[in-house]
Order: sequence, then structure tokens, then C-alpha cells
Amino acid sequence: MTMAAPATYQAVLQPSGRSFSASANRTLLAAAAEAGIVLASSCRNGTCRTCLRALHAGSVHYAIPWPGLLPEERSAGNVVLPCVAYPCSDVVLGD
Ligand code: FES
Repeated sequence: MTMAAPATYQAVLQPSGRSFSASANRTLLAAAAEAGIVLASSCRNGTCRTCLRALHAGSVHYAIPWPGLLPEERSAGNVVLPCVAYPCSDVVLGD
């Protein structure tokens, strides 16, 4: 049986317009780093919020049950923690 390759999405940072490919099986932080784009980070486990940025468009999911987002942020879906967020679609993030 052949395993399908994970989906790959496009991530764009606004307003700079910088972009990178974001595989569904890589965090947005890791995908950005692989493209040579350094996003602010510290803990890299979803708790410190150093990497917090706007999610202008698209959707993400988290592999851990409750990353360091406030309940209202989580339900609004307009911010993201790239260190623990996996893309489910093309995404537009705050720079
Ligand atoms: S680097 Fe700490 S929450 Fe993302």
C-alpha cells in the first residue's frame, strides 16, 4: 500500500507578502524555518505565546488538546500559535 503524501498548502505573511510552503504534517513555525523565514518563538510547545500572531485567513488544527490560547481566542479562530499549529488549508498570517 502506498501512503499519500501530506497535503501542502501556501502560507502568506501579511503585510510583507513573504510566503512559504506549509505541509499538513509540519507546524507552521517549522515550515517557515525550512523556507528560511524566522518567526519569533520561545517554548515551541504552545504555552508561552511568544509566537502568537493573527490568522487572517485559512484554518489550522492543533495536535495537543489545549495550546496556550484563551478560550475566546480559540473560538474566534483569528489568532494562531505557529509552533504547534498545523495547516488545514492555505493560510494568511500576520507578519
Ligand atoms: S513559541 Fe511558545 S507558544 Fe509558540
